[in-house]
Amino acid sequence: MRAETGAHGPAQALLGAMTAGLVGHEALVERLVIALLVGGHVLVEGPPGVAKTRAVKRLADGVEGAFSRIQATPDLMPGDIVGIQVFRPERGVTEFVPGPVFHNLVLVDEVNRAPPKVQSALLEAMAEHQVTVGGATRALPDPFMVVATQNSIEHEGTFPLPEAQLDRFLFHVLVGLPDAATELAILDLVEGEAGTGVPLAMEEHVSHAALANMRRAVATVHLSAAVKDYIVRLVMATRADGEAGIAGRVGHAVSPRGTLALAATARARAFLAGRAFVVPEDVAALAPDVLAHRLAPTWRATADGETARGLIAAALAAVRPL
Ligand SMILES: Nc1ncnc2c1ncn2[C@@H]1O[C@H](COP(=O)(O)OP(=O)(O)O)[C@@H](O)[C@H]1O
Ligand SMILES: [Mg+2]
Repeated sequence: MRAETGAHGPAQALLGAMTAGLVGHEALVERLVIALLVGGHVLVEGPPGVAKTRAVKRLADGVEGAFSRIQATPDLMPGDIVGIQVFRPERGVTEFVPGPVFHNLVLVDEVNRAPPKVQSALLEAMAEHQVTVGGATRALPDPFMVVATQNSIEHEGTFPLPEAQLDRFLFHVLVGLPDAATELAILDLVEGEAGTGVPLAMEEHVSHAALANMRRAVATVHLSAAVKDYIVRLVMATRADGEAGIAGRVGHAVSPRGTLALAATARARAFLAGRAFVVPEDVAALAPDVLAHRLAPTWRATADGETARGLIAAALAAVRPL
């Protein structure tokens, strides 16, 4: 059984073009494309210099629409991102000047350097697809997607994102430092680009109409009762009565928002593979990046060196699909 013939073509082309300019970032690229298909936001975490920004720029090159980049700093104010009311004395009126969130794809670099008020304005925009300034509510463009990056080595002068709001992100993707072979391939790729002076370009971009079509097709991908059951049992494993025996180490469990995110992203992964139905492997492959940031170990488990990712790995090992 295949999805509607060629329906996933534009997403496949985007995936291929993004992968071609990024060495060894298949997982990150796949998650960015899935988030685009599902209408979700992505938090990318890793050390500086591993092509986080480059990955988002390639996504921007591959999709129709306006792109903006916000560099977060501790002195940023909410108005700097959502926009401000400006008084025009010559006309005696106040006018709204939209901020950089009013774009289809917004890259927020080093989001954990932004002060809490800015983070909260951003997270609200992400959840509501609208912002309120000066008492007036304004809708953000459609599609609207935020990719935020955070450096994992920096702690001084940062404001960790509030745990309770982290689940506004569909995915939390970790990127690490490359191995020797990957370093060599990066060197060849980037030096090759410098030689010709032209960075790899996308052949054509995904139009808003093509994206809307694909989103509709993703929503029709079949999720069987057995796979639904698998998703629910994985999520329940993080709660008191779960079967994996990890719940005692979980301080803050995955909410239904996590369940819904896992189902939606698994559908998009199946769609990308040209399948009209979700298989348990879709769920298992995405579960760490969809669920880990939505739960927190107890302080005791943390003291014992346990991490949210470790707990999800334990849940995946214990919970078997039917
Ligand atoms: N895996 C990779 N594939 C392609 N280029 C890479 C890769 N890792 C690093 N680079 C190159 O390293 C530089 C830093 O990338 P950048 O996107 O600015 O990093 P970050 O945003 O993670 O700090 C860029 O020139 C980029 O092309
Ligand atoms: Mg960067």
